[in-house]
Amino acid sequence: MAPDLSSPAKAPKLQARGVWKTFGHGTARTVALQDVDLDIADNAFVTLVGASGCGKSTLLRTLAGLEHRSAGDLRCDGQPIDGPGRERAMVFQHYSLYPWLNVLDNIRFSRQLATHTRDRTDADVEAASGRADALLRLMGLAHVARAYPSQLSGGMQQRVAIARALMSRPQVLLMDEPFGALDAQTREVMHDLILHVHRLERTTIVFVTHDVEEALYLGHQVVLMAPRPGRIDSIHPVPLPALRTQDMKLAPAFTALKRTLLERIRATSGMQTDTELLARLSRAGSIDLAR
Ligand SMILES: Nc1ncnc2c1ncn2[C@@H]1O[C@H](COP(=O)(O)OP(=O)(O)OP(=O)(O)O)[C@@H](O)[C@H]1O
Ligand SMILES: [Mg+2]
Repeated sequence: MAPDLSSPAKAPKLQARGVWKTFGHGTARTVALQDVDLDIADNAFVTLVGASGCGKSTLLRTLAGLEHRSAGDLRCDGQPIDGPGRERAMVFQHYSLYPWLNVLDNIRFSRQLATHTRDRTDADVEAASGRADALLRLMGLAHVARAYPSQLSGGMQQRVAIARALMSRPQVLLMDEPFGALDAQTREVMHDLILHVHRLERTTIVFVTHDVEEALYLGHQVVLMAPRPGRIDSIHPVPLPALRTQDMKLAPAFTALKRTLLERIRATSGMQTDTELLARLSRAGSIDLAR
């Protein structure tokens, strides 16, 4: 049958082909990314998990253009990624807010930087303040608009950082363990908030985490990475409806995939070998005791 040319497959939003990243030389050389191939669809929510040092942050920073790849091809909307771009915003674990600016000014700051003062029109200023107000409401920050970062909880500071990243309407949001420093209850609230933001803003999100449960609850797809050398081990579609609710964490499909991913992370990180070694050592210990 002739292929249907009227509906060509949509090009991925982000695409990596044969991407390598190495740090250092000679004996100090580290392969942080080995031959990474990855397609991330427009409006996808993709989570990256894996043992410490498997290259999650390096992959994210390379997608952000903050790190230059050593080899391979990396594209956003078909255009090569050769540095940071306004269509890709990054949110870090540590909120990196400006302590001397209040919440509203922190959110508006990146937009002000992007438009040169002389070129800024009244319409620009009005559009920016409308967007900032909408983001304040979306993130539940309207009541603290004039507060300074030091007066806010960690969860609130991270909401400000996310609002600031969203200010220039990025198409891609790259998040590196953004909720890693928050307590469990605040994280749950932030999970539902970021899912809401994703639905509303239709942003493509790439989200790095250590936490398999977080990766499964948020992601449409979980990319599992492995260390030494840093590489993609496997990609897992998440068998849950797009509209997530906290009770889905108890669904058999959720718990089964969680177990599979945890076992795989343990296996790829060499942690299993350590457990075997421990078992051997304790067996050896019991022989000694028996003597
Ligand atoms: N600037 C750098 N210089 C040298 N080596 C680096 C640099 N950045 C990362 N690496 C190395 O690259 C590898 C991947 O690091 P990366 O930070 O991407 O891992 P990660 O998966 O994000 O780890 P974690 O879960 O601990 O944050 C590690 O071995 C790390 O030591
Ligand atoms: Mg990291």
